[in-house]
Amino acid sequence: MTGAAWMIEPAGAESLGEILKIEEACFSAPWTRKMLEAELSGNPFAHFLLAREREGAESSAGSIVGYLCYWIVFEEVRLMNLAVIESMRHRGIARSLVFTALETGLSQAASRAVLEVRASNAAAQTLYQGFGFRRVAVRPKYYNQPIEDAVLMELDPIVLRSDAGSSVRHNAGGHSKPLQ
Ligand SMILES: CC(C)(COP(=O)(O)OP(=O)(O)OC[C@H]1O[C@@H](n2cnc3c(N)ncnc32)[C@H](O)[C@@H]1OP(=O)(O)O)[C@@H](O)C(=O)NCCC(=O)NCCS
Repeated sequence: MTGAAWMIEPAGAESLGEILKIEEACFSAPWTRKMLEAELSGNPFAHFLLAREREGAESSAGSIVGYLCYWIVFEEVRLMNLAVIESMRHRGIARSLVFTALETGLSQAASRAVLEVRASNAAAQTLYQGFGFRRVAVRPKYYNQPIEDAVLMELDPIVLRSDAGSSVRHNAGGHSKPLQ
């Protein structure tokens, strides 16, 4: 990668505790330990990416600063869970994670990507729109705590723009280690 302070890599079960802490800090209705565990080691469709602070970057070098859980189900990439710790936001980390997921999806013959996002989550919707995702439906009262509609967003076909996060070189491509 080109000087970024983080790197993208596949997650393993040993990262569960750190991921759970970030999950609980970032969401009003966080995934539970069991749910995360299932995605990290029980679900054959699931891929789990970490953004990890680079050694020597700051005092917290080596720690996890963000993650993305996504599924590749035949022709479809489903973005399931994405978070970046507050102190590391606005640096392009989420964009790099999403880019990596879409790139991996394409390499595995996926052609379309979908996700659900809280209607009030303007930051995430702007991020996805930057990749070309469009709002295609609203799912009323889909979320709890607080009850809120979900916006269904779709990118069909998946086309990766060269300026959408590709500046980050990483070691996540190919997923030699299964993430499920
Ligand atoms: C949404 C979230 C993942 C974004 O992470 P991030 O690493 O800060 O995002 P990036 O720096 O990669 O931003 C990429 C683009 O997304 C958009 N974006 C990100 N944060 C934004 C914000 N607060 N307001 C408006 N647009 C925003 C911008 O278009 C940005 O591009 P730019 O920096 O060139 O303007 C992060 O805010 C987060 O973890 N939020 C809490 C959990 C969450 O909402 N997860 C998503 C669930 S669907």
